[in-house]
Amino acid sequence: MKTKILTLSGCSGCALLAIAGCPGVESVVTTTQPGGPTAAALITNVTETDPFQEWTQFPSATGVQESAPPHGPIRRTWINSVVQAAIADPTDSLPVDSIVIKENLADADAQTATTWSIMWKVDGFDPQNNDWFWAEVTPGGNVMAEGMVSACNACHGGARDNDFIFLQNLNGGN
Ligand code: HEC
Repeated sequence: MKTKILTLSGCSGCALLAIAGCPGVESVVTTTQPGGPTAAALITNVTETDPFQEWTQFPSATGVQESAPPHGPIRRTWINSVVQAAIADPTDSLPVDSIVIKENLADADAQTATTWSIMWKVDGFDPQNNDWFWAEVTPGGNVMAEGMVSACNACHGGARDNDFIFLQNLNGGN
């Protein structure tokens, strides 16, 4: 697989990375394989093909909530129909084409998010990290991080037993 390294211009303008600590995410690896996943395609998918504002939410993370560092301060989390169907029964992992979007809001009254943090499971993308494609983007389509983002994998790896998901216990509990 051919890869390229995107070097982020710095931490300014990237709130998540500034909070998460720049050293871990100075470079973002993304595939350039023809037909490979991109944040741009993901954004088109979740805004036009299957608009996420019409999705459901994790049963244990409904409405608008306070968020924990490095995300935050306020979140609203959405799951697509693939995730919704999968969590109807206890499971250890989410299927291919699962998408979870976390809108990061400046405050509880905010109508639009400042950024979207997205997890998208892509068949064979990154088997060591349960095939999650990570994206940190603005609603306007600016891509701050995409692909096998080491900081996302490292921290969410703390929930490896729950398929890298923090907000919902996939095994049935809340
Ligand atoms: C230092 C730890 C840390 C890092 C780095 C991190 N996250 Fe998270 N993330 C969390 C925590 C904790 C939650 C749940 C609490 C919250 O949202 O405030 C979360 C929640 C999420 C969720 C909702 C699904 C879930 O796991 O419950 C998504 C989507 C997400 N993060 C995407 C990302 C992306 C994309 C990146 C990298 C650009 C990233 N995260 C980096 C800690 C982290």
